[in-house]
Amino acid sequence: MIPGRGKNQIMFTRAIARKPGKNFAQGLTTTLSEDPPDYDTLVKQHKAYLNVLESIGLEVILLDALPDHPDAYFVEDTAVVTAEVAVITNPGAKARRGEEQTIAQVLARYCKTDNIRAPGTVDGGDVLQVGKHFFIGVSERTNPEGANQLGRILDGYGYTWTTIAVSAGLHLKSSVNYVGKNTLLVTEDFANHEKLGGYKKIVIDSHEAYAANTLLVNGRLLMPAGHPGTRKKLETLQLEIIELDTSEVRKMDGGLTCMSIRF
Ligand code: GLY
Repeated sequence: MIPGRGKNQIMFTRAIARKPGKNFAQGLTTTLSEDPPDYDTLVKQHKAYLNVLESIGLEVILLDALPDHPDAYFVEDTAVVTAEVAVITNPGAKARRGEEQTIAQVLARYCKTDNIRAPGTVDGGDVLQVGKHFFIGVSERTNPEGANQLGRILDGYGYTWTTIAVSAGLHLKSSVNYVGKNTLLVTEDFANHEKLGGYKKIVIDSHEAYAANTLLVNGRLLMPAGHPGTRKKLETLQLEIIELDTSEVRKMDGGLTCMSIRF
């Protein structure tokens, strides 16, 4: 039995990822950092992340960097993959449009695909699956038209969905993630959100808000290193916790969920 396996937990066998390009620091970011983003450090952090995915049984499909798209290693924004269909997104930031094309080619080898069509926009970072239900964040990247298109596609495969306004953070999953055992890990902004009822909540202290971007994969919790208060709270779930250094990713408004598409 895989630790923490429960009715809402999806088991993954593969992950798509993309090497960061040397120009990654030209990607979109709102984060002000005293130290400029460092490519060599990012490469080490990215490799460590992929090593963890492999060590817990996922086959990693690693794509080359896309020189015209410095954010393209945040592959999660380009597709929403379920057991039945992969929905290729239309990313919300103009600078990121086109990243989805090679991802669509890869996913088409494994599953049926569908698409979000303009004027709809969706970033996968706004889409949180919990069992048969999807929370679709409406944000600066995912517009209501895109959210509704995605919802209608998912509806056709027997999933339920609700939209949720992303009032803080870049994406919904910057602030809310499913961590197993019917529990959501949330920032204070989402602690009492009416659309997140029915789940237990672990609420993160505001100074550790970045740790909300914790990723549940096959019964393990991958969390950004350096958030001891959140780690202690997550330990109550009795799942294996693996901390990963994400310092350079964070400088580019990214996190652990964004760097792979699990399926
Ligand atoms: N740098 C990640 C994004 O803004 O999409």
